[in-house]
Parts: sequence; C-alpha cells; structure tokens
Amino acid sequence: MLNNDLDLERHPLDGLDTPAGEALVARCRSDLARNGMFNLEGLIRPAALPRAVAGLRPVLDSAAFEHKRSHNIYFRKDIAGLAPDHPALRQVTTINHTICADQMPADTLVLQIYEWPAMAAFLAATMGKPRLHTMADPLARVNVMEYRAGEALNWHFDRSEFTTTLLLQAPEAGGVFEYRSDLRTESNPNYAGVAALIEGRDPQLKTQPLAAGTLNVFRGKNTAHRVTPIEGKIPRVIAVFSYYEQPDVMFTPEERTGFYGRAG
Ligand SMILES: [Fe+2]
Repeated sequence: MLNNDLDLERHPLDGLDTPAGEALVARCRSDLARNGMFNLEGLIRPAALPRAVAGLRPVLDSAAFEHKRSHNIYFRKDIAGLAPDHPALRQVTTINHTICADQMPADTLVLQIYEWPAMAAFLAATMGKPRLHTMADPLARVNVMEYRAGEALNWHFDRSEFTTTLLLQAPEAGGVFEYRSDLRTESNPNYAGVAALIEGRDPQLKTQPLAAGTLNVFRGKNTAHRVTPIEGKIPRVIAVFSYYEQPDVMFTPEERTGFYGRAG
C-alpha cells in the first residue's frame, strides 16, 4: 500500500543496498554536511496527499490542542550572563494546533510511514547512526501540527540533533521556512548575532521552499529557524516524526502536558 502512496522509484528508501539506494543515501549525507538538511521532494505522491490530510481533518477540527506560547529563541526564562532586556532574549509568539499519534486513525498514512521499518533504517543511514527506533510514547511518536491563518512557529533552536518532518499541505502564502546556519557553536553563543537575526539584520538568513509531499530532515541545534505566519485560507499541515537511538523512549507526564496540554 505504501508503494502506491510513496514515490519509491524516485526515492528508493526500501532498497538501500541497491546502487540507487546507495546513491540516495550518499546524496542525503552530502546535503546534510553541506546545508544542514536534506529534502525528498514528492516522497508522498500528489494523488495521496488530499486523502492523508482528509483522514486527519475531523481530529484537527474537533480535538487539536491549541499550543500558544510566548518565548525567546532559547525557550528559557534567563540565560546566565545575559541581561533580561538583552535583544537576544526578545519575546516572540508561537501558535499552532497540534494532534498526537493516539488521536489519529490507525490507517492514517503518516502513521504507516512512521512505523514502516524502512523509514527508520533510511534515516539512520543518512545520519550515520547504527539504528533508530520508533518512540514508545503514545502521544509524542508522531505529531501533526496545523498552522492556520496568522499562526507561526517562531525563532528557536531545536532540542534534538535532527528533526524529521513531512509536509502534508502547504499554505497559499506565508508559512516560509527561514533558517540561519551555524549561528552559534558549542563554545560561542554569539548573542550579538542572535540579536541581529531576531531584529531582521542578518544577511545570511536563508529560506527553504517546501512543497507538500516533501520529507525534510534538518539539523537544528545550532541553526536558528522559524516558519513565518500563514496567510490565506489554506492551513499549513506538517507531520513531525520522533525516532531515537534508544528503544522505548517515553516523555515524562510533565513534558506531555507542556507540549500537548494533557499528561496521557
Ligand atoms: Fe525546530
């Protein structure tokens, strides 16, 4: 069934030991090293996209968690050595509507792709990890975020080394993925550079156009990024996959409450 919905001729995730599969992994590894990300455009065939979103639509409309928070780029109250009014700590707003794996119909395409062993094996190969495992957490394993008109994901750095997303629906306008590579390092937090970015004065800001159906793997720990506010009637709908090097990873009830508004 995934054979019908995914373009595995173009992206042979299920044949990593074939020459085409080896070439795909090599291309993704080189993109990651050079750009901090790789994209598999059109991984979900265009004909399968409306169904993938339609299956989630009732839950998105009736039971999504409105996740709204005011935060700074660090998602932390204060940073040692920085004055509270330092421009690097400017408050920004993130808002979206989130649903969790336990709310999705079992035959939902995004769940099938997440649980497909070839996907974890492919991602592990591109990231140079021996193995990746699906998460045990019934809420956190797969999330779908809907960004409606005026909603945005604001400036932040990621907690995890890699973020894996699958764009299911692109908006008419806005919703642009913007990023600034290597804004900081482990030894240099570069607060002046962070302030310049937030104030719109960073000439090295880049944008990445993403079409619906694209798998994106992004290294976001030291690359600041955001998604600009959505414009128009069509929301941006994106699935986020969580894989870990250890099996059976769970969030704590506190983490679940913070991200989803409920402990279980
Ligand atoms: Fe992120």
